[in-house]
Amino acid sequence: MKTTTVIVSRKGAERARDGHLWIYRSDLLDGGGDAAPGASVHVRDERGRFVGCALYSDRSQIALRLLTWREETIDRDWWRERLRASIARRAGLEQEADAFRLVYAEGDALPSLIVDRYADVLVLQTLSQGTDAVKGMLVELLVELTGARAVIERNDVRVRALEGLPLTAGVVYGDAPEEMEVVQHGTRFRVAPLGGQKTGAFLDQRENHLAARRLARGRALDCFTFNGAFALHMAASCESVLGLDISAEAVAASRRNAELNGFSNVEFREANVFDALREMQDAGERFDTIVLDPPAFAKNRASVRAAARGYKEINLRALKLLNPNGVLITCTCSYHMTEPQFHEVIAEAASDARRRLQIVEKRIQSSDHPVLVGVPETLYLKCVIARAVD
Ligand SMILES: C[S@@+](CC[C@H](N)C(=O)[O-])C[C@H]1O[C@@H](n2cnc3c(N)ncnc32)[C@H](O)[C@@H]1O
Repeated sequence: MKTTTVIVSRKGAERARDGHLWIYRSDLLDGGGDAAPGASVHVRDERGRFVGCALYSDRSQIALRLLTWREETIDRDWWRERLRASIARRAGLEQEADAFRLVYAEGDALPSLIVDRYADVLVLQTLSQGTDAVKGMLVELLVELTGARAVIERNDVRVRALEGLPLTAGVVYGDAPEEMEVVQHGTRFRVAPLGGQKTGAFLDQRENHLAARRLARGRALDCFTFNGAFALHMAASCESVLGLDISAEAVAASRRNAELNGFSNVEFREANVFDALREMQDAGERFDTIVLDPPAFAKNRASVRAAARGYKEINLRALKLLNPNGVLITCTCSYHMTEPQFHEVIAEAASDARRRLQIVEKRIQSSDHPVLVGVPETLYLKCVIARAVD
């Protein structure tokens, strides 16, 4: 079957040659020609030079997602090789944890495809018309490559609406349990990939959980704990840990996880962190280690200013609760809050709290969520570890 060709502007072609994987609709010179929604197409510039093979969407502003710069046949064998390579890049990780990301979309040059592994269950997201069109084949290949006993799709994410795709979640292969156990660096967790936040857990923080265990000490506070991952990692190195989350379900899950690991020095409370930090300050409470891992406050560029106020408030309040020589582990998972902006927020909070802070580590999302050079959107999580040295 002949592959359709889509012609793009010089600007679109240059962006692609600079390493980005997206070409916007405004850069299509032929409006996409006769490309079918979700088809893999050849992309050429206005002078006819080959730009790459891409997935086409007839709905999204991201009209083309580049799969390769080379002129290749995008067939089952191509997908098998790309999936195999992405999985092979994680070799050895299973010695540390049995839940991690196998395919990180653009970060693995497999745009709009996410695959997470929870022990022998895979969770799949096909986030564009292109990857959704080959979903059945991807499931078969993933089972072939990993021997997974079940594959779940968590396609209940809003970005799919931009592609004109339905929001849906469920088991697409095998028999998946409602809940299952995974182990991260020796700590056990119950996860619910079918219904939990994200694909069941915040796998992107996995290595930061480990860093927290290494640096945490004394009395620790884990704000926005979700299933207790930071708290339970820190339990091993701290005298006591208090975890807070606004969700009753998250608090119940954290308590179950603490029990599962036999920790008696961890407590979880249902609370709005903004209120709790103020109340604890009024009560004169102090901590030696504080983790701040809020949800993304900046969902788009327009909300960055308002988000910065939220980040500043929690950082300021946390600093007021931190003992001398205390450790602050502070995160933002907002792509739109850039690293310099986040550092400025931390600096302003330190100045207002009259605390002298030294940065001990600047971290990002875990290495199974790699950042593709040329695609800034693949870097979204920033984690700063600082120590109060006043
Ligand atoms: C990014 S997740 C935390 C992930 C977790 N720290 C981990 O490492 O797995 C954010 C969590 O914040 C909780 N949350 C959102 N707003 C909150 C608030 N105002 N106070 C307390 N928790 C909140 C959510 O329920 C969610 O569990």
